[in-house]
Amino acid sequence: MTELTRRSILAAPALLRAQSREERLRVAVIGTGNRGAFLLGHLLELSGAQVVAVCDILPDRADRAATMVAKKGGQARTFTDYRRLLDEVKDLDAVVQATPDFTHREVDIAVLERGLHLYAEKPLALTVEDCRAVRDAARRAKGIMQVGFQLRHDPARAAAMRWIRDGKAGRVLQCHGMRHGGDLPRDIPWYFDKTKCGDIVVDQGIHILDLFRWAIGRPPARCYGEGGTALFVDDPPGRTVMDHYSAIFEFDGGEQINFSHHYFDPPGFTGIQERVFLSGGAVDLIRAEFQPRTSRERMKLEVPDAGQDATRMSLAAFLENVRHNRRPLNDVESAYEATLVALMATRAIYEKRIVTWAEMEA
Ligand SMILES: NC(=O)c1ccc[n+]([C@@H]2O[C@H](COP(=O)([O-])OP(=O)(O)OC[C@H]3O[C@@H](n4cnc5c(N)ncnc54)[C@H](O)[C@@H]3O)[C@@H](O)[C@H]2O)c1
Repeated sequence: MTELTRRSILAAPALLRAQSREERLRVAVIGTGNRGAFLLGHLLELSGAQVVAVCDILPDRADRAATMVAKKGGQARTFTDYRRLLDEVKDLDAVVQATPDFTHREVDIAVLERGLHLYAEKPLALTVEDCRAVRDAARRAKGIMQVGFQLRHDPARAAAMRWIRDGKAGRVLQCHGMRHGGDLPRDIPWYFDKTKCGDIVVDQGIHILDLFRWAIGRPPARCYGEGGTALFVDDPPGRTVMDHYSAIFEFDGGEQINFSHHYFDPPGFTGIQERVFLSGGAVDLIRAEFQPRTSRERMKLEVPDAGQDATRMSLAAFLENVRHNRRPLNDVESAYEATLVALMATRAIYEKRIVTWAEMEA
């Protein structure tokens, strides 16, 4: 791990320190649905931010967000058009974007071109071309861009990743992940439309794939996958997203990612697993545990800030990164690669063939 990324992780607790009113960053939240309201709730608990504006194309959602701000003693202007917000709110420092995936390219580029700092929800975009457009806009931008891969800031996973990246467990051989659960939330229709969410690798599997790519330290060379809709056929009506897939990624150093993701797990049966197998043993990212190859004793890794919410840690890190002009741990470059990894698996599954990184980047 570079000194920069290590410092970003270690700096996170300092974020919770009290800050004077003048030091607070003026922030707007664009998209105040399910995720936006969650992000807003955390922002309102962090002393480094002052939420001055909220925006949603649905006026009742913007109003509900403004009420959340008012309940914490603040005042936020409401908008239904983010472009008006960007034009009219003066002295804005940063935007938190939580709009549906198919809008990310447009909203993110508008915010970056306005010279503001941006915390943008994942994925970066839904096509390679659009991902590149957002990444290039972020490279040109005055502000920093941090992407909603908050698991990088989850205290247990961050501790496990430090252990791996510091070489304490040897070299990575294989990452093995499972994300088995119930179906997507029925009250959010765009999640079921692959043209709007990019399908379930890009919208959901991406978090764990991002961690695994990070553990290995470079993008995969090849991917193959199989998937489809086994249980939730046309359920809800018009559904175009899969309900399961498995994907295998191969890396030039011989490492592998083996990932299985489905929505027909009976309650509590398997759940989520994120495991990295290395030459010296294996690491459970979620539990921050190391099982050495040479002993039956499992080691609990030291976890600073244990129990803190990953999203809160990520937002707090964002405020500190803006303040000190630091490169985020979940920066646009890593988000670009994570999104391409997910697009690569989706292409392999749809086209039933091995897809190479070279063709993704071509
Ligand atoms: N990081 C995570 O763990 C995580 C978790 C859940 C969702 N997300 C991401 O957050 C984003 C939002 O997801 P959600 O579950 O909150 O969906 P949602 O549909 O509940 O919320 C999206 C909101 O954006 C509004 N909106 C749509 N277009 C807009 C526009 N042009 N300008 C302003 N507002 C607009 C919608 O009216 C809606 O209220 C997605 O990108 C999703 O992938 C991330």
